[in-house]
Amino acid sequence: MTQADFDFIQSLAYEETGIVLPARKKHMVYSRLSRRLRQLGLKNFSQYCLRVQNEPSELVSFVNALTTNLTAFFREGHHFEYLNEEVSPQWKKRRNKRIRVWSSACSTGEEPYSIAMTLAEHFSGAEWDLKILATDLDTNVLSKASKGLYAEESTTGLPQQYRSKYIQSNQAGIQIKQSIQKMIHFKQLNLLQNWPMTGPFDLIFCRNVLIYFDNETKAKIIAKFRKLLAPDGLLFIGHSETLTNISDEFDLIGQTMYQPLQGGHTKINTDKNKEKKLVMSY
Ligand SMILES: C[S@@+](CC[C@H](N)C(=O)[O-])C[C@H]1O[C@@H](n2cnc3c(N)ncnc32)[C@H](O)[C@@H]1O
Repeated sequence: MTQADFDFIQSLAYEETGIVLPARKKHMVYSRLSRRLRQLGLKNFSQYCLRVQNEPSELVSFVNALTTNLTAFFREGHHFEYLNEEVSPQWKKRRNKRIRVWSSACSTGEEPYSIAMTLAEHFSGAEWDLKILATDLDTNVLSKASKGLYAEESTTGLPQQYRSKYIQSNQAGIQIKQSIQKMIHFKQLNLLQNWPMTGPFDLIFCRNVLIYFDNETKAKIIAKFRKLLAPDGLLFIGHSETLTNISDEFDLIGQTMYQPLQGGHTKINTDKNKEKKLVMSY
């Protein structure tokens, strides 16, 4: 891979996905795209760069190859504990029975399924209108996510009480039950492009994707989340991410958990969150 090839790949990835590929990731880029070169029978990266430039369909494979899709059931468990122990009891008290959640970089689906299992414990009654939107840029991961079929080994993080209720084992591995699958709508969405949703969302998960973006891109996305969130909505981000120096429109209410900041908006107390009060005011 020549420097010119890498420069081209770097700028195309940034333009299409917002993903920043510094020079130290050259080796990773090389190994991920080499597979694609072999599949296409191309001799070198210059040929591949020409192909991706001239064939819009190759752009999809290019993007899919460059995304990092690491995820797990109940990853960063404190978010699910908070959802279960603090947020859901508050939501239960509200008059408005509409709950909207968005998992905005859902990868292969473990994150939205974990959200669905957590919320199913509280909101399975017919009076609740609960929907989870799960989106990602990568079409391959979405195809896996929508099947809800995983290897047995991937379920280590799944709490036993959910496992027995919401999972079926079969020869191919484990299958998420229909009752959970039907709570989620999987759709392709590039966080950099237009979002067709109007909101408001009660909760947005945007975990472990902001790290791949520069501050300008992060700030744009976070400002759009702010507009789509209900006044007392919540934004959960990944363990190595922060909104410090990105947005001053949010209050930190717990570890990597944020709520829109607004004058006069009262945040009610929860047992775990005494110093920063969380309100679910519906
Ligand atoms: C490391 S995974 C995180 C999965 C999950 N949120 C979690 O924390 O376990 C990052 C995901 O972000 C997606 N992604 C990267 N750039 C994106 C973009 N511009 N728009 C939407 N999704 C993107 C990738 O395809 C990948 O599936």
